[in-house]
Amino acid sequence: MIKKGIILAGGYGTRLGPLTKGVNKQLLPLYDKPLIYYPLSVLMLAGIKNILIITNKGEKYNFIKLFGDVSQLGIKISFLEQDRPRGLPDAFIVGKNFIGKDDVVLILGDNFFYGQGFTNRLKTALNKNKGATIFTYIVNNPSDYGILEIDDKNKIKRIVEKPSKPKSNLAITGLYFFNHKVVNFAKTLKPSKRNELEIVDLLNIYLQNKSLKSEFMGRGSAWLDTGNATNLFNASQYIAAIEERQGLKIACIEEISYQNKWISKKQILKRINFYGKCDYSNYLKKII
Ligand code: G1P
Repeated sequence: MIKKGIILAGGYGTRLGPLTKGVNKQLLPLYDKPLIYYPLSVLMLAGIKNILIITNKGEKYNFIKLFGDVSQLGIKISFLEQDRPRGLPDAFIVGKNFIGKDDVVLILGDNFFYGQGFTNRLKTALNKNKGATIFTYIVNNPSDYGILEIDDKNKIKRIVEKPSKPKSNLAITGLYFFNHKVVNFAKTLKPSKRNELEIVDLLNIYLQNKSLKSEFMGRGSAWLDTGNATNLFNASQYIAAIEERQGLKIACIEEISYQNKWISKKQILKRINFYGKCDYSNYLKKII
């Protein structure tokens, strides 16, 4: 069982300019919460309480301010800054002391996952992980993602980053499980043509070692992009439609913690006080 998770909340967010000129992308609103609440909620739903958030240089304090007293959330969050974005696998180099000898989940700070049964899927895959596990999703724009090349027996042949001529439309989402070997593997990687360490290179090492597992997320689930203004707006509308229909919030981190029995009513009351008068606080009042 993996007990540690890293949220990578760095990057320039260039495609969201000018929105990201003054603010870290993961602090932008995805409907009614900052983007980072969504990947954080995925880790919490998977039962992970020990979390490292990696931010851009100089941005750590905005995240500390956002979360306030995290002990009220029943989890532990540490923060580290990356002097510049060097690609996703850099998370394992920057985070090597946090990882130690343990297995770890990496989730990208701007990824949105949703769907019935997703939590159970996560927990099962987390228990079964031996080497690395990836989650794949069918997309209409495969050239924007890491893409699987599969043979006629559905076995993964190779993973290619943003191929100009994609061999499939199966994208790799920004959620990865790794065993403790990931730190040493990450150290062997060389920067790609775009001068970044590539997650696909890391995954291809696990593939060559026959220790890569892939979990297909079916069409009944949602993995949405938030990389440009249109995608972010569409994802917000998706969340608004579901939340308004049900009166339930997606990615309410206090609610998840409360349901996991990590916190009691007392902590939720403290969070209501922390957030002040807002719709989110009204929701918290409703769940207790
Ligand atoms: C990164 C990865 C890519 C993956 C994607 C998922 O791309 O490099 O393999 O499919 O995240 O969000 P980026 O969004 O950093 O361009």
